[in-house]
Formats: sequence, C-alpha cells, structure tokens
Amino acid sequence: MWASAVLLVLLGSFGANALDNGLARTPPMGWLAWERFRCNVNCTADPKNCVSEKLFMEMADRLVEDGYKDAGYEYVNIDDCWMAKQRDANNKLYADPERFPSGIKGLADYIHSKGLKLGIYTAYGNFTCQGYPASGMHLELDAQTFAEWGVDMLKMDGCKQMDRHTMKKGYPQMTKYLNATGRPILFSCSWPDYERGAGIPINYTLVAENCNIWRNYVDIQDSWQSVLSIIDYYAKEQDTLVPVAGPGNFNDPDMLIIGDFSLSVEQAKAQMAMWAILAAPLLMSNDLRTITPEYRDILLNKDVIAISQDNAGIMGKRVLQKGKIQVWTKPLAAVFQYATTIFNGGNAPTNVSIPVRDLGTNYDTGTIHIHDVWRQIEYPNLNYLYDVFSTTVNSNGVVLLHIFPVV
Ligand SMILES: *[C@@H]1O[C@H](CO)[C@@H](O)[C@H](O)[C@H]1NC(C)=O
Ligand SMILES: *[C@@H]1O[C@H](CO)[C@@H](O)[C@H](O)[C@H]1NC(C)=O
Ligand SMILES: *[C@@H]1O[C@H](CO)[C@@H](O)[C@H](O)[C@H]1NC(C)=O
Ligand SMILES: *[C@@H]1O[C@H](CO)[C@@H](O)[C@H](O)[C@H]1NC(C)=O
Ligand SMILES: *[C@@H]1O[C@H](CO)[C@@H](O)[C@H](O)[C@H]1NC(C)=O
Repeated sequence: MWASAVLLVLLGSFGANALDNGLARTPPMGWLAWERFRCNVNCTADPKNCVSEKLFMEMADRLVEDGYKDAGYEYVNIDDCWMAKQRDANNKLYADPERFPSGIKGLADYIHSKGLKLGIYTAYGNFTCQGYPASGMHLELDAQTFAEWGVDMLKMDGCKQMDRHTMKKGYPQMTKYLNATGRPILFSCSWPDYERGAGIPINYTLVAENCNIWRNYVDIQDSWQSVLSIIDYYAKEQDTLVPVAGPGNFNDPDMLIIGDFSLSVEQAKAQMAMWAILAAPLLMSNDLRTITPEYRDILLNKDVIAISQDNAGIMGKRVLQKGKIQVWTKPLAAVFQYATTIFNGGNAPTNVSIPVRDLGTNYDTGTIHIHDVWRQIEYPNLNYLYDVFSTTVNSNGVVLLHIFPVV
C-alpha cells in the first residue's frame, strides 16, 4: 500500500562509487563571500567590505553570536581574489599579505577556534576567473598547501581553462591529491557548469565519484529573475539531476541571496524553501553584520532547515505545473513523509486547490496530515483519495508543507 518505500530504496542505491571522504552527508551549510562581496580588493577605499581576513573573521563572529552556527551553518568560505598576484619562490600560493596579514593558516586557526570550518577557492587552469594565480599546473602542491593551512572545503572554479574537455581529467586529479593529503576537504566542483556551457556531455557518475557538491548552472545574481531561472533549469534537468543527489553528493544551485538588496521577504522565503526541497547547499552570501531580523529569521527557521538537512538527502522534483504555480515534492527519510512546496513565480497572489493525491506523494490511500511550515497551520485529517488541498500562495512566494500519514 505505501509505494513510496520502493522509491526510497531505488534512490538510495545510486552511487556505490560516490566520493567517500565522509563529508557532506547532508547539504553543507555556511557562508560564501562571492555574490555579495565579489572581487572588492581595495581596502583603502572600502575597508569594511573588501576581501580581507577581517571580513571573514567578522562573518565568523556573527555566525556564532547570532545563532547561525547553532542552526547548522558551519563553513566560512573565501572565494576569488584572496591570493597574492604571484606564487612564492617555492611556487606556493599565498594570501595577499596586506589584506590577510595572518595568512590563511592564521585565519583558519581563528575560524576553528570558533568551532567553524574554513573554505577556500582556486581554479583549474592557470588563472582564476578574476585573473589571480590558479591551480592548473600545481594541483598536487596546492592540495598539500590547503591541507597544511587547515582548510576544510575547496571550491575549484575554471573559467580561464578554455579547453573544457580537460576538466574530466583535471578535477578527478585534484580529488586524488586532496585525498592523499589525509585531511578531509569537502570538494566543490564547477566542472559540470563549464561542460554545460561548452555543450560537452556531462557524466554525472564521474562527477559524483569526485565531488561532494557541484555547480550545474550559471552564477546566481542578486535578483528574483536569477532565482527563477535557476529553478527553471533544475526543473528542466530534474530527471538527470535527482538520481545523482544523495548523502555525500549534492547538486549546487548556488548561494542564498537572502538578506541582500533584491529579494522581498516572500521571495526570500521562496528561495529558502526551494533550496531545502532541492537538497541544495545552504551557503549564504550576504552581510550578516547588517542583515535585518525578518531575513535572519528566514535563514534560521528550524523546520525549513530540518527539511534541507533530511538524512535521506533526496533532491525534490517538480511534480505539477499550472501557469505560474509549480508543485515540488521531496521524499524525506522518515518513511511516508514528504516536504512539498507550492511555488508561485507570478506577480499575483493566487488561490490554489489541488487534489491531495496530486501533491507528488506516493500513498495509495489513507488519511494524511499536512503542516504549513511558514504559517504554522495544521490540516490534520485529509483523505488522500478524495480531498482537495486549498491555500493562498502569495505572489513571488511559496507555501511549504510537511506531509505525513495519520496512523
Ligand atoms: C582604491 O580606492 C582609492 C579611493 O577610491 C583610490 O584612490 C585608489 O587608487 C584605489 N586603489 C587601487 C589599488 O585601485
Ligand atoms: C598554463 O601555463 C602553461 C605553462 O606556462 C602552459 O603550458 C599551459 O598551456 C597553460 N594552460 C592553459 C589552460 O592556458
Ligand atoms: C580517501 O579515499 C579513501 C577511499 O575512498 C577513503 O576511505 C578515505 O576516507 C579518503 N580520505 C580522505 C582524507 O578523503
Ligand atoms: C561515466 O563515468 C563512469 C565512472 O567513471 C564510467 O564508468 C562510464 O563509462 C562513464 N560514461 C561515459 C558515457 O563515458
Ligand atoms: C482567496 O480566497 C480567499 C478566501 O477564501 C478570498 O478572501 C480571497 O479574495 C481569494 N483571493 C484571490 C486572489 O482570489
């Protein structure tokens, strides 16, 4: 009668050879500098916001003091533009000494002293996207250097590596060198996105063997349009992407832009709910020093984080689309439990009525309970076969549901 058990078993069986470094058993959570702080390297003109150790230390302080660490956010991630413009006499990368006077080792010590983890950035190819020295010719040395410094996560980009066919070799080499350091380092790969851009077929089996998380699609920007286009991409590709996600391996639709300049509160709730349904990494790129409480509360919502961090690590699917309304559903680890979003990408508040059996769950019959996560409303006794679920979805908004059987 409960057919969803079969689905869980099938999904859980993928990836016998998936990357085995013990990391990212659930989607990683933390903070990443890029979308908000970019390559701002002028600390004379903008000392508060330039890419410097001070910025990362201040974000670490906020993660700890404002409740993010307790909610699960643990990585503090540097992106591009941290390096000096050349390697040192031994060919090692080192941080710009004016902006990072403690060096990356010193910064890692600070981050670790707060109970947090440090992420760093490099690129495959000779230069990073912003033209700083990158790892193409020095994969082994750089892996060793990052491990010596105490780095816990590595994002390897690749825009200046023009021959994208080489990435199928280069990224797995880096995986081997990271493994050989003996330090568990969560590996974030940009490789599938570059293959997609170049029209090269992506082998997700190979990707999952070598990366913990990977970017599939273009960089997020600080706009609702950008969020919508990312959601569309994941819907279009879901039959390919859902099977490769699971503990240790996650598709990465890019950073959370909640609390930045563009998203309304409704739009921010929608991004948070959709990223939870997608089993996406929750890497905030915002200014935690100035974020307002309404956005902070969205990022700290325990029920939404629980859906994101569900142990089964299953990526949800779009199961229904009617005009601007989309329904996405993710099976949870607890048998017969689901999380569902009713997402409104349009500009009008919309009343929707959907037969309960069309919400993407996989019961055959029975009585179910629906909990509206953001609004804290209960619908305790719905007949799976005959009842219709009705709710109002705000414009550019989402209704997030937790669905479970009444036993
Ligand atoms: C930094 O900004 C200041 C003030 O705008 C400017 O005078 C200076 O030339 C900039 N430095 C660099 C390296 O761009
Ligand atoms: C990187 O530099 C090396 C030597 O300087 C060169 O042989 C190689 O072609 C360069 N790679 C790319 C992707 O430009
Ligand atoms: C290296 O790979 C082996 C085999 O997959 C795995 O057991 C081990 O935990 C890995 N070590 C690190 C540090 O990633
Ligand atoms: C994809 O990668 C896997 C694992 O490395 C390999 O077994 C398989 O042959 C590859 N598929 C293609 C089409 O190259
Ligand atoms: C939605 O339904 C409520 C109550 O059922 C009603 O008051 C409201 O006007 C409706 N809104 C729209 C946009 O139809």
